[in-house]
Amino acid sequence: MTMKIAPSILSADFSILKEEISDVAAGGADYIHVDVMDGHFVPNITIGPLVVSSIRPITDLPLDVHLMIEDPDKYINDFAAAGANIISVHVEACRHLHRTLHSIKEHGVKAGVVLNPATPVEAIKPILKHVDLVLFMTVNPGFGGQSFIPEVLDKVKQAVIWRKELELDFEIEVDGGINSETAKLCKEAGVDVFVAGSAIFDNEDRHKAIQSIYQA
Ligand code: DX5
Ligand code: ZN
Repeated sequence: MTMKIAPSILSADFSILKEEISDVAAGGADYIHVDVMDGHFVPNITIGPLVVSSIRPITDLPLDVHLMIEDPDKYINDFAAAGANIISVHVEACRHLHRTLHSIKEHGVKAGVVLNPATPVEAIKPILKHVDLVLFMTVNPGFGGQSFIPEVLDKVKQAVIWRKELELDFEIEVDGGINSETAKLCKEAGVDVFVAGSAIFDNEDRHKAIQSIYQA
């Protein structure tokens, strides 16, 4: 699989979100990563379906919506209607994960599953054939700008092995503390999609920041 980069708009300037998204799109972004936080599942509040529907017309890139919320089932319809292309839910937030993943797909949206750093990778083995994407958190979710947790790479390597054994084709994504150095480690472990917030948006030259992750 070719490497993909998903800038996280959590670190963008929300007062000029359109320009921010156009900038990273022109700089080679593959997805736009949208971090949805509810102040319950994680200790921070960000955005909801309204913002997703506002950014939908300004880019052709897939919107990669990462739900860090309790009871995600309640909001799948809203995010799908807002124009999400991928909706990822946390295994820790889903009581009936298999059902939730199918409900995402029934909306014609790609389904992703997310694991916190402390969640064993075995938690997703039974549902791997039902997902389009597996997102490994490489920080504890809630905020941009935290440090990468390298132990997560063992889980990435296990997912690569299972993908091959089970002849599946889900993408493997990492999120948190990704920069050109940590991206190199992730690439070696087999990661396909790299979410990066502060490493891209805190850099004045976003195109250069994206390139340096590609070249990791
Ligand atoms: C963390 C979010 C991430 C975050 C990444 O809770 O899910 O997407 O924005 O930010 P950086 O790249 O700054 O760690
Ligand atoms: Zn995220």
